[in-house]
Amino acid sequence: MTLNATNADEPFDCEAQSEMETDALGAKLAGAAEPGLVVGLIGSLGAGKTRLVRATATALGADPSCVNSPTFVLIQEYFGHIPVYHFDTYRLRDVQAFADLGAEEYFGGDGICFVEWADRVASELPLDLLKIEVTAVAPTARRFRFTASGPVSQRVLSRMK
Ligand SMILES: Nc1ncnc2c1ncn2[C@@H]1O[C@H](COP(=O)(O)OP(=O)(O)OP(=O)(O)O)[C@@H](O)[C@H]1O
Ligand SMILES: [Mg+2]
Repeated sequence: MTLNATNADEPFDCEAQSEMETDALGAKLAGAAEPGLVVGLIGSLGAGKTRLVRATATALGADPSCVNSPTFVLIQEYFGHIPVYHFDTYRLRDVQAFADLGAEEYFGGDGICFVEWADRVASELPLDLLKIEVTAVAPTARRFRFTASGPVSQRVLSRMK
């Protein structure tokens, strides 16, 4: 895994060369995370957003077989050491449909929230967000670019560096 350490406010890039390295990155995020963290995932279809959520939730003690794309469920909850709430906004009609899910009640709560397609619902997300942009750079290699925008996300990101 290639890590590119930067200052607190600058993006932090991490390149995983394989799914095993994505698992290691998920474990690193799990180790750094704290309740109240909201993660916004951005990236095209098949980029690896759900795969990173699975890696992180598994490292937090969730059953990996339960962690799939929540596309048809919209919200999935996994219970490990810290609860994980996983939202997929891809099939939502619009931003209002996301607001109607009551997602805001999960933010800043007892768990860690992951929101796939965060760019589609940006106006409904907290200002303090750990943004992760996922890009496929080769068939099994993915770049994860982390950007923090508030105290919780900055604390988590600085623990990862
Ligand atoms: N290093 C890697 N990290 C993550 N996924 C990888 C990696 N290498 C290959 N893959 C593959 O890329 C795909 C990622 O799928 P995933 O469901 O996570 O995408 P997604 O970004 O959630 O897409 P969608 O927008 O459709 O939900 C999987 O098929 C996975 O096996
Ligand atoms: Mg997905």
